[in-house]
Amino acid sequence: MRITVNVAMSIDGKIASSLREQLVISGPSDFDRVDLLRAQCDAVMVGVQTILADDPKLLIHDEKLSSNRRDGGESAHPARILVDSLGRTPNNAQVMGKDARTIILLSGAAEEERIQELNGLGVTTIVSGEKRVDMENAMTLLKEEGIKNILVEGGGELIFTLIEKDLVDELTVYIAPMIIGGRGAPTLADGEGFVDRFPRFSLMKVQESDEGVVLYFKKILNK
Ligand SMILES: NC(=O)c1ccc[n+]([C@@H]2O[C@H](COP(=O)([O-])OP(=O)(O)OC[C@H]3O[C@@H](n4cnc5c(N)ncnc54)[C@H](OP(=O)(O)O)[C@@H]3O)[C@@H](O)[C@H]2O)c1
Repeated sequence: MRITVNVAMSIDGKIASSLREQLVISGPSDFDRVDLLRAQCDAVMVGVQTILADDPKLLIHDEKLSSNRRDGGESAHPARILVDSLGRTPNNAQVMGKDARTIILLSGAAEEERIQELNGLGVTTIVSGEKRVDMENAMTLLKEEGIKNILVEGGGELIFTLIEKDLVDELTVYIAPMIIGGRGAPTLADGEGFVDRFPRFSLMKVQESDEGVVLYFKKILNK
């Protein structure tokens, strides 16, 4: 399994404001870069709070990229994977649309009735873990679904877990020349935070884009 994390953040590391609502941080070139990343993966993954806050579709925008995928025998869009212990994703969320496959990772705390309802809506449901989704085990189960290459687009809670479990292979960050501030505003990695072991990545490339910069990091092997 190959896992790439991509986010857009402000100079001060915030990925949204303290209102936790959708906020445009990146510019047009960065949207195109992310579109290409989506076109190159089997699935795009987000946490349920991102669904509730932003209601994204998580589809490829550029029709040419979609048709290239089709020509290569792939689906027009990558699958959408939602990390959602209880199945709180609204039935009318845009990710529930029929343009792409939707997979919801639930935990053992999800109601059986809700799982059946999601299955009835055409969603693939995968149960992993007890209270929250066990991400390591989920990756094994996703492999069985043919998913080998995942682009994680947020938010900070999910990214923290993936870094904590040493599951992130690549990390790309667009930094916009703006300050968002706010102690309650989400950052690239929230969760409990690290206190004695601080995961490090190796900087591979720096690229100016729009008004900001994209940093490309890679996992450091043999730590
Ligand atoms: N700038 C960007 O690039 C960008 C991208 C995406 C999102 N965002 C912003 O990020 C914010 C949302 O991020 P967020 O950090 O609050 O939430 P998130 O990471 O999107 O979702 C976190 C939720 O996922 C569920 N979850 C289940 N198992 C988990 C596990 N093992 N580890 C972590 N989470 C697990 C939990 O809810 P349950 O327990 O209910 O399952 C948890 O509250 C929004 O404001 C959005 O606008 C920004």
